[in-house]
Amino acid sequence: MLDQFQREIHYLRISVTDRCNLRCVYCMPESGVECLPHSAILTYEQIARLVEQFAALGVTHIRLTGGEPLVRPQLHKLVAAIRAVPGIQRITLTTNGILLSQQLPQLLEAGIDGVNISLDTLDRQQFAAITRRDLLLETLSGLEVALGVPGLTVKVNCVPTEANRDQLVPLAALAKDRDLSVRFIEMMPIGLGRNLGRLTQEEVLAQLTDAFGAPLDCPPPPGAGPSTYRTFPGFTGRVGFISAVSHQFCHNCNRVRLTATGYLKTCLQYETGRDLKALLDGGASDDELRRVIAETIRQKPASHHFSTAAQSGDEAMNMHQIGG
Ligand code: GTP
Ligand code: 5AD
Ligand code: SF4
Repeated sequence: MLDQFQREIHYLRISVTDRCNLRCVYCMPESGVECLPHSAILTYEQIARLVEQFAALGVTHIRLTGGEPLVRPQLHKLVAAIRAVPGIQRITLTTNGILLSQQLPQLLEAGIDGVNISLDTLDRQQFAAITRRDLLLETLSGLEVALGVPGLTVKVNCVPTEANRDQLVPLAALAKDRDLSVRFIEMMPIGLGRNLGRLTQEEVLAQLTDAFGAPLDCPPPPGAGPSTYRTFPGFTGRVGFISAVSHQFCHNCNRVRLTATGYLKTCLQYETGRDLKALLDGGASDDELRRVIAETIRQKPASHHFSTAAQSGDEAMNMHQIGG
């Protein structure tokens, strides 16, 4: 469906939990977070019912996020339920990869099409400093298992900061001999990310050009996100840039978000949206749900304002509650 700025909205990011088995410094407080009671989060049945309504309005792509989505038990059951919804063409997952090697077989059977794996460094001590957990080897084994699956779209997400400046070239090199997309995401001023410095796309590209030569144009991998892609001479895979601050992409935005608590969030930076769980709990009909979803999507804000001072209505949640 179209929003008020004639953008086609066909992509829904669903956060299935705000819990995580890591504590990345830009995402979650060291002390962790107060756990939401089960009664506060959508059940898989409720999520599937909402997906049916979104699909009827034109959503074709579902991305499951967290927190860490794989810490929610039996995620493959949700994937299978979403797979059964007419109109849904693609189901993908954004994960830190720690539980992936255990769960990938069931997820594939349920119909997952791709996984994006967060990985900021290949250095074990640095990984432990950024994520506050010594679990690099688990993430790497998740990545290897995913890369071994024919037809599965695999992407790596790295947020470049001063802490991992020396790891950007080794991370990009993962795409040299494999059909992999390594994406560099500019830190966004959301939640804890507000207080941390960012490296820009230009700084990262300069490092990669020094190491690999001049970047080349290339076709994008499957997906519908805001990343732009380049490759380097002799590379099988590619490098991506998601640069919300320095290269704003809001005019092409195609997505809305559903939080684990059932809040339909129409833009990453604003609180604007609607509590769909309240409607479900109140016994709303499918028609009523569709009417409210369509009305809320139509009101989607034009763009973020990351480069200007905070305003009222800006999102106060941390990234683990939004799902990226
Ligand atoms: P595909 O292209 O389908 O692989 O998805 P994606 O890159 O959108 O998904 P992923 O969950 O891997 O997100 C990568 C980064 O992009 C995360 O940091 C997200 O917060 C960011 N991102 C995704 N969508 C948006 C958006 O609409 N606006 C902004 N500012 N950032 C976004
Ligand atoms: N800015 C940019 N990316 C972020 N992520 C988490 N917080 C931020 C932020 N403030 C990334 C994670 C993960 C993806 C879902 O979002 O690293 O790869
Ligand atoms: Fe967990 Fe992802 Fe947040 Fe890191 S960025 S704490 S892996 S939800």
